[in-house]
Amino acid sequence: MRKPIVAGNWKMNKTVAEAVDLVAGLKRGLGEIGEVDVVLCPPFTALKAVGEEISGTQIDLGAQNMHWEKSGAYTGEIAAEMLRELYCHYVILGHSERRQYFHETDEIVNRKVHAALESYLRPIVCVGESLEEREAGREKEVVEKQLRGSLAGIEKGRWIDVIIAYEPVWAIGTGRTATPQQAQEMHAFIRGVLREMVDAGVAAAVRIQYGGSIKPENAAELFGQADIDGGLVGGASLKAVSFVEIVKAALRPAAGGAV
Ligand code: 13P
Repeated sequence: MRKPIVAGNWKMNKTVAEAVDLVAGLKRGLGEIGEVDVVLCPPFTALKAVGEEISGTQIDLGAQNMHWEKSGAYTGEIAAEMLRELYCHYVILGHSERRQYFHETDEIVNRKVHAALESYLRPIVCVGESLEEREAGREKEVVEKQLRGSLAGIEKGRWIDVIIAYEPVWAIGTGRTATPQQAQEMHAFIRGVLREMVDAGVAAAVRIQYGGSIKPENAAELFGQADIDGGLVGGASLKAVSFVEIVKAALRPAAGGAV
């Protein structure tokens, strides 16, 4: 059985002081949450402070991006080992905002995935189609291409450290969530692609998060789908109350599909 994983992607929000405040609220609200992996992904500038605040708890730390090289003349970039030094265990890669605004291609994401795995960071690799692509009926084709490109060449034994986040671009920050059925259909499709790319064991074991306008009101139904293993939460992760409720929804997903 796959352990649910809920991650908060804070994006470009929260000063250090605000981050520390938020973590205090999360610690109060979450208590013991052993059955769900909880990951906070603050901006780089708040990683150290958040890492200190969550030390000794079951909450884990993740970054939102990194470079694929180990060091060098890459002004403004951050390397995997720098993240490890701050006790990061996860890193979000290929988020649609990185793909859209910073022109990250599947090839770039793939390099980053390999660099992350080499440094024992677990990559949360994002895929998802645009509204235009969905309306043209191309969503599966687009997601398959992203999966095959971004996740090429991973050794079989390392797949267990990979997390996939399906985030339809039209659902991000729009208040428009994919229906649980739409999300489940794509998650099942992603497992089918993994089966072809690697094998049935990996396809069954890899965790696939849903992301895009997750809220306390819709989380349990999404997490109750057979192939949805938690979520990557943007806006609703910026407030302790809503993020705590979403994590709790992963503990007790709505009936009807959970395995
Ligand atoms: P929202 O939850 O704000 O829609 O953002 C989703 C997201 O992009 C998480 O990575």
